[in-house]
Amino acid sequence: MIHLHITGWVLALILFAVTFSLYKNKKQKPAKVMHMITRLSYLLILYSGGDLFYNYIVSGTWNSYMAELIIKAAAGLWVIACLEILLVRYAKGKPTKGFMVQLAVSLIIVLALGFGRLPWGFLPL
Ligand code: HEM
Repeated sequence: MIHLHITGWVLALILFAVTFSLYKNKKQKPAKVMHMITRLSYLLILYSGGDLFYNYIVSGTWNSYMAELIIKAAAGLWVIACLEILLVRYAKGKPTKGFMVQLAVSLIIVLALGFGRLPWGFLPL
């Protein structure tokens, strides 16, 4: 499930970059299609993240990592919100800087907790 989760968010970040550059180059139609596909990748993240979260609770790992896990999941939702809001705002020609900063902050939190702190990753940390 960790692998599906990582595949999910790596895919979302790549699709986000592709959709963003399509909007940037005023290719509205392909951008709309890619935007919908990007949204599908959010579902993959939510499904795999939700399953990991559930398994934390049923396995009892929850007891030792409750705070980190809650912050990790909240920051993960925050990343997804930033990606979606950024695409919608950019498509409408609204300013995106503030949400770019939020995306950077939320990504740092999620990567630091996911790879650096929580124990179920594949990195030996
Ligand atoms: C784009 C958003 C997200 C990113 C970039 C992200 C990133 C990560 C990373 C880097 C890991 C650790 C993988 C590893 O150590 O090999 C991880 C694990 C995890 N994620 Fe996410 N995540 C996101 C969204 C979510 C959401 C929305 C949830 C909850 C609903 C969630 C729940 C979890 C859980 C429970 C784990 C297992 C923690 C562990 O490593 O022990 N994630 N995620």
